[in-house]
Amino acid sequence: MNKVIISPSILSADFANLEREVRAVEKAGAKWIHIDVMDGHFVPNITVGVPVVKSLRKVTNLVLDTHLMIENPEKFIRPFVQAGSDLLTFHYEACADRAGNIIDLIKAEGIKAGLSIKPKTDPREILPFINKLDLVLIMTVEPGFGGQEFMHECAMKIPVIRENAGNELIIQVDGGINNLTAKICTSLGANSLVAGSYIFNHDNYDTAIQSLY
Ligand code: DX5
Ligand code: ZN
Repeated sequence: MNKVIISPSILSADFANLEREVRAVEKAGAKWIHIDVMDGHFVPNITVGVPVVKSLRKVTNLVLDTHLMIENPEKFIRPFVQAGSDLLTFHYEACADRAGNIIDLIKAEGIKAGLSIKPKTDPREILPFINKLDLVLIMTVEPGFGGQEFMHECAMKIPVIRENAGNELIIQVDGGINNLTAKICTSLGANSLVAGSYIFNHDNYDTAIQSLY
């Protein structure tokens, strides 16, 4: 059994055929689906929101791994939970002064809570929160767009988090993941990989996903 959780990011999927795309990665073995929510403020891009989570919830039982790249994430916890998100990951940089409270709010809804850091953020800043988190998401590109190149120096944050966490913590990496960078991340202690362009630009999703383990 593979212990690494692969979470295909639909940002690089065919948005005109999302149901088909989700079913295809499910058939290829994915257990999670990564949904990138961008607000045009926290990051310089706009993507999808609550209605898309709600629509996907109707067509799949996969874990809806929701990555909030938005300001004021606390305003959207309840709507995303009601839409069907199983995990809400928000950015430390969007609300550093109240990150602990937001984790508590997400957990109170009965779903998993994740905290993400951008490339320039020191991983030691989030160590006070790791005991109450289900997941830490380490960005290995500047959030906002798919298809960027993996920032190797960011991968060195993985052991800093793992050394201070139990084995139950999911350490997820997002940005520039392919068959080579995936191995770097898992060998450093990551156990979840987000991959967008690598999977969805591949002509065989099964081969692409298998190559990440
Ligand atoms: C970027 C998003 C990623 C993105 C990754 O801000 O958070 O999830 O889809 O895309 P790739 O895998 O193409 O780098
Ligand atoms: Zn993401």
